[in-house]
Amino acid sequence: MNYNIGVIRGDGIGPEIVAEAVKVLDHIAAKYHHSFHYTEILMGGCSIDVNGEPLTKEAIAAAKASDAVLMGSIGGDAKTSPWYQLPPEKRPEAGLLGIRKALNLFVNLRPANLYQELKEACPLRDDIIGDGFDMMIMRELTGGLYFGERKTEEIDGKMTAVDTLIYNEDEIRRIAIRAFDTAAKRRKKVTSVDKANVLDSSRLWRKVVEEVAKDYPDITLEHMLVDNAAMQIVKNPRQFDVILTENMFGDILSDEASMVAGSLGMLASASLNDTKFGLYEPSGGSAPDIAGKGIANPIATILSAAMMLRFSFDLDEEADAVENAVQQVLKDGYRTIDIMPQDNSKKNTVKQVGTAEMGDLIVERI
Ligand code: IPM
Ligand code: MG
Repeated sequence: MNYNIGVIRGDGIGPEIVAEAVKVLDHIAAKYHHSFHYTEILMGGCSIDVNGEPLTKEAIAAAKASDAVLMGSIGGDAKTSPWYQLPPEKRPEAGLLGIRKALNLFVNLRPANLYQELKEACPLRDDIIGDGFDMMIMRELTGGLYFGERKTEEIDGKMTAVDTLIYNEDEIRRIAIRAFDTAAKRRKKVTSVDKANVLDSSRLWRKVVEEVAKDYPDITLEHMLVDNAAMQIVKNPRQFDVILTENMFGDILSDEASMVAGSLGMLASASLNDTKFGLYEPSGGSAPDIAGKGIANPIATILSAAMMLRFSFDLDEEADAVENAVQQVLKDGYRTIDIMPQDNSKKNTVKQVGTAEMGDLIVERI
């Protein structure tokens, strides 16, 4: 089959990690007789440098014209980069929020599972890890605090800022339905995370999620307050299957879950709308501190490409091949620096490799 893939390399480590995912996709294309055609799309800081804005109309049109988009990461060092002298709506992050909204990518899937091989990189105790955990964070991505009205003004002589956390019932319902559908194919449990003891938006969230749950009698629904959820993820991550939550809570909890799973460099993500289209990107950021050093972990991006094969192209066998190759490379003892064992005495049991070498090793195993 022929597929058109938009490629946003982005900033920081973005170009390095995307190059490895493209390497993997090219290998899949050759092996399974597909043809992937790539269209380069500028977004984020690199687009500011060329176009004076983080996301152009042309970039949105190119993304829309693709079957799926593979993305690296965007943004730079807020202290040193000139991008952060610009007003907030002109900064790199505004490009990412803009493309999420323009493409209606309301579902953000962030799987966090612990590979047995990475137990040594996991900061949790062995008795907590047990035989591993496997949670799917489903983060609402086009509403909430990220897209509510915001302003900063002087009131009574004091600078005052306001951000609005806003959801309507339809926005809650459509992500809740996706969460229950996802749980139906997994371990049949949805934990809906909110702050219903304080926030109106959370009370509506809870009510709508309960309505949706009525259509899924064989799925267990539990509600959890977000502060407790943050604690439970480190206390007993094995209790979770699907975690359904609003935009900001999902942003925070997914970083936490990824660290518990070993490293942000392992966590893939898919942002989907109600068609087959998706934007696939690692959950981690652009890590400007290690950009250009060839040490970034490309696995999250490679696993994001596997999610693209599975969700947007229905190529399950190919996606399995990529995921198995990642597992094998870990079994064979190869690690990027971020997933090296924390305990010094265990460091010599594995071999540290750079970004491109990790990509090559995964390709060899497909
Ligand atoms: C993420 C990132 C973004 C977000 C930033 C870069 C705007 O942290 O994808 O999790 O907050 O959504
Ligand atoms: Mg984040």
